[in-house]
Amino acid sequence: MTRARRAHLVTFGCQMNEYDSGRLRDLLCAHGWQLTEIREEADFIFFNTCSIRAKAAQRALRRLEELRPLKKNNPSLIIGLGGCLAEQEGRALFDQAPWLDLVAGPQHLPRLPDILDEILTDRSQIALIGPGETPAWSQANLEAQGAKPDTFNSTAGPLLDYVTIMQGCNNYCAYCVVPYLRGPELSRPAGEIVSEIKGRVAAGSRDITLLGQNVNAYGRGRLDGEPDFPGLLRLIADTGLDRLRFITSHPRDFSPELVNLFGDLSSLSESLHLPVQSGSDAVLKAMGRGYTRRVYLDLIEALRVRCPNLTLTTDLIVGFPGETEADFDESLSLIETVGFDAMFSFKYSDRSNTVASSLPDKVLEEEKSRRLIELQTRQKVITLAKNLAHLGTVLEVLVERVSSRYPGQLTGRARNYKLVHFDGPPELIGQLVSVRVIEAFSTSLRGERVEASR
Ligand code: 5AD
Ligand code: SF4
Repeated sequence: MTRARRAHLVTFGCQMNEYDSGRLRDLLCAHGWQLTEIREEADFIFFNTCSIRAKAAQRALRRLEELRPLKKNNPSLIIGLGGCLAEQEGRALFDQAPWLDLVAGPQHLPRLPDILDEILTDRSQIALIGPGETPAWSQANLEAQGAKPDTFNSTAGPLLDYVTIMQGCNNYCAYCVVPYLRGPELSRPAGEIVSEIKGRVAAGSRDITLLGQNVNAYGRGRLDGEPDFPGLLRLIADTGLDRLRFITSHPRDFSPELVNLFGDLSSLSESLHLPVQSGSDAVLKAMGRGYTRRVYLDLIEALRVRCPNLTLTTDLIVGFPGETEADFDESLSLIETVGFDAMFSFKYSDRSNTVASSLPDKVLEEEKSRRLIELQTRQKVITLAKNLAHLGTVLEVLVERVSSRYPGQLTGRARNYKLVHFDGPPELIGQLVSVRVIEAFSTSLRGERVEASR
């Protein structure tokens, strides 16, 4: 008997890539592949890559270099590189890494099982790039690729799960490669999203995060009868889900109706990721973000009126071309004014094709590093203060797992998405438990259980 072919998948980058890899895993298994954690025993190794900043791209290329000796030892091994770096570099990757067999942009991943058969028979190098006409993981696309309906979205739901609702982006922020690599906005039909979520809830998921580069634009240019983003959230709220979140929102497209859903929809988590990118109006304008500092602050205020305990996280870039010391000070003052619970901050990275890459007045690398450290040092103090403010409060925690750091403790997330540890038996995993906060750290809270679970 021949053994099943084995695939080893490695994911870099964002949640969208994690989701894509998950669906690819489902599809490969449905086509008779087995997954392996050990790359030496794999027949197919696939890297799902990221290219948002130069560092992410370099990391994937370094890892690809490590596969060269494996291919030498086992010439029948198939090596594939997918995701944003694949889309960006295309066939040029074959010159850089001749041991590579397959290059596939994010919109072509559903074709991989068939393409692998093709490579196995004629051993040619194949590149699949360019835009797709339907969202990659929509039913219509999967059917067009020959997948059987019973192989769609077959993963048993983990407690916390992710569902893609749209892909691509039409915003073309000056620094960003996403619109070039992930293509234009394409929304999945609402009925399909709702049925996928129902399936996951039935399989045990209690907390779902909706994914898209710009979820607020969901349904833009939609067909008659299809909902917009607030409409979609209302539909999903009826699926029996305990907690619902979404990433990523664009402040410019955040409608008053969406603001009003906070406090209205009981399943909506009290946490929001709202990238601001800069606190300076001049830099926001140069970035093409389409809002001012004032508009952003007013939006936060409106959200806090609706949902006073909302935790807020953001993305911020330092050293965008032309960013002066005064502009940077505006970013520092903005993080103090808002009081973000956490921040993801980045040094501006030049990406080819973007508008910013041809702007003058590039900020020196040392200066970007200095600004990043100063920003992160300030944010650390704010994050700790935010966590300390939870002392004595009671949080509803969805218990995820036994703590890997603290023996005898369980780990879960509160409705505001703060990480909470507390003493308790493993039987509580998967349940909602009330926990009083007794200690606060920089990245988590510690508490004690105060009442029965459900
Ligand atoms: N340089 C630095 N940071 C970037 N981001 C996107 N493009 C770049 C770039 N060229 C950041 C933004 C975005 C996050 C996902 O990555 O802050 O919100
Ligand atoms: Fe990139 Fe801007 Fe689109 Fe976000 S909204 S993916 S930063 S272009």
